[in-house]
Amino acid sequence: MCGIVGYIGGQSAYPIIINGLKRLEYRGYDSAGIALYNGKSTSVYKKYGKVSDLENSVAGLDTNGCLGIGHTRWATHGEPNDKNAHPHMSMHGKFVIVHNGIIENYNNLKKRLTTRGYTFKSETDSEVLADLIEYIYELSPISPDDAVQLALRKVQGAYGIVVMCTDHPDRLIAARKSSPLVIGIGDKEYFIGSDASPFVEYTDQVVYLDNDQIAVISREGLNIKSINNAVVTPEIKKVDIDFDEIEKGGFSHFMLKEIYEQPRSITDTMRGRVLSEVDKITLGGLIDVMPRLMNARRIIIVGCGTSWHAGLMGEYLFEEYARIPVEVEYASEFRYRNPIINQEDVVIAISQSGETADTLAAIQLAKKCGACVLGICNVVGSSIARETDAGVYTHAGVEIGVASTKAFTAQVSVLAMMALMIGRAKYNIKSADYHQLIRELMSIPEKIEHILKSADHIKEIAEKYKDSSNALYLGRGCYYPVALEGALKLKEISYIHAEGYPAAEMKHGPIALIDDKMPVIVIATKDKGYEKIVNNIQEVKARKGIVIAVITEGDTTIAAMADHVIEVPAVENAVGAMITVVPLQLLSYYIAIMRGCNVDQPRNLAKSVTVE
Ligand code: AGP
Repeated sequence: MCGIVGYIGGQSAYPIIINGLKRLEYRGYDSAGIALYNGKSTSVYKKYGKVSDLENSVAGLDTNGCLGIGHTRWATHGEPNDKNAHPHMSMHGKFVIVHNGIIENYNNLKKRLTTRGYTFKSETDSEVLADLIEYIYELSPISPDDAVQLALRKVQGAYGIVVMCTDHPDRLIAARKSSPLVIGIGDKEYFIGSDASPFVEYTDQVVYLDNDQIAVISREGLNIKSINNAVVTPEIKKVDIDFDEIEKGGFSHFMLKEIYEQPRSITDTMRGRVLSEVDKITLGGLIDVMPRLMNARRIIIVGCGTSWHAGLMGEYLFEEYARIPVEVEYASEFRYRNPIINQEDVVIAISQSGETADTLAAIQLAKKCGACVLGICNVVGSSIARETDAGVYTHAGVEIGVASTKAFTAQVSVLAMMALMIGRAKYNIKSADYHQLIRELMSIPEKIEHILKSADHIKEIAEKYKDSSNALYLGRGCYYPVALEGALKLKEISYIHAEGYPAAEMKHGPIALIDDKMPVIVIATKDKGYEKIVNNIQEVKARKGIVIAVITEGDTTIAAMADHVIEVPAVENAVGAMITVVPLQLLSYYIAIMRGCNVDQPRNLAKSVTVE
């Protein structure tokens, strides 16, 4: 949540920061701002709305300077408006700050600063931090870096900050605790970002700032120390983001591009891991923890939103093939109860961004209890990837659309690979079945390619139901999480109320909702629950409900009952079930577009939820 960009070097900072903010807009987009030092003075420009609104508002103003910071906001404290937008300047104008996170004790700090004469222009916790730094700086002759360090010792909560000091416009000071910051290293120039996307065209050399670290960055160099003053030697890593990944590449929206990328992203996720010629699955990142996985008493999967849905698919896959009991938990609930976890448990955290605050906290709790903690993340070098004992990256590529699509199918691909690998190693799967399951896994990209050809047909269905107020999604077994995911996609981008239910549960309540207006989307492919789902469709039709069924190609039985069908290639077993989510992604996308919604940046949401 919130995107941060900083630049210090020989180039003009403004275009670098503005373009960087546009790339980080997926993290928050209710207001944006920039601070620039032009060699004589510091200007701060802030605007309610998108980065483009900020850009328009500064047209004709002084945007010179080779040092600056920028921010795109997802509001936590104070409504989205010009004055709550970042950067925030301290009361005496000595410090300018951009902040991602929440200062939990800001009220206390604010009261104390008020008694010392401070007044505040915004309702944000971030302005309080700027003032606290200034207050400490002005108490005694210390460097701005020391003032930041001392102030942070008084702060509770989460932060990724970049600070400019108007007395010392030769440096940027960056610090983090639980909110990501990456420093890009160029030739006598440095970039800062919430991730590396703002500066990929300038450098691929990066340093990931760790929790409780402060970096002082000048054109001459980068110095990192811990909040307790220990010197840290920066570890330079190479970041691997393809420039094309962060462009729309001819698609009208990132979400559509990412839906269409799925055949490729799943192939990339399996590449080198599923060796079909020798019927083998190898996940390099798990080799060292295989004994713990195979002997796990229980697997606990934690995640949020779409990643939690992938976890539910994982439960099905692990129990079916690895025969290990699985519990799937919302990370946000798990961390606040007193869960019983022990050393024989394996906890798997699933996260696209690798930065979700609740998932990170759940990991920390599980580690404390001695469990082996694994991560399934998309963002290389992310906090969750670094905090876990081992893990597997989903090679889905950068996902920018706030609604997760290709990350979901990549996560399920990883879970399927894990379940099969463990199942085979435990001799739960016979050789011939294993061969067949690997074939099924390998056929997924091609099957999705085929489904994508139905986009026009799905668009026609979308046209008919774009004005609905409610929708119900039904599925059984491993298709229940697909139903949940379909419903989440629809509500988050089209703002239509939608619910996902296990189909058999319908008669225990939701059946009361059925009328001749609400579409009921049923995942009804031919597998072991087929006869039962046919019954569920009949129950909907008997009440004059509208059925949109996702069916196996050539299924004339359901085609005769349903109002609309979307055909998908046959799926032999649970491993391929994820393909049925693709038509649901497209349906949501087209409905949202037809309703005039901003699908890539839906209201109130942000891509990376780094606050609790
Ligand atoms: C998905 O469409 C959502 N935007 C959201 O539910 C997301 O999956 C959730 O916030 C978890 O994010 P993560 O995978 O980055 O941890």
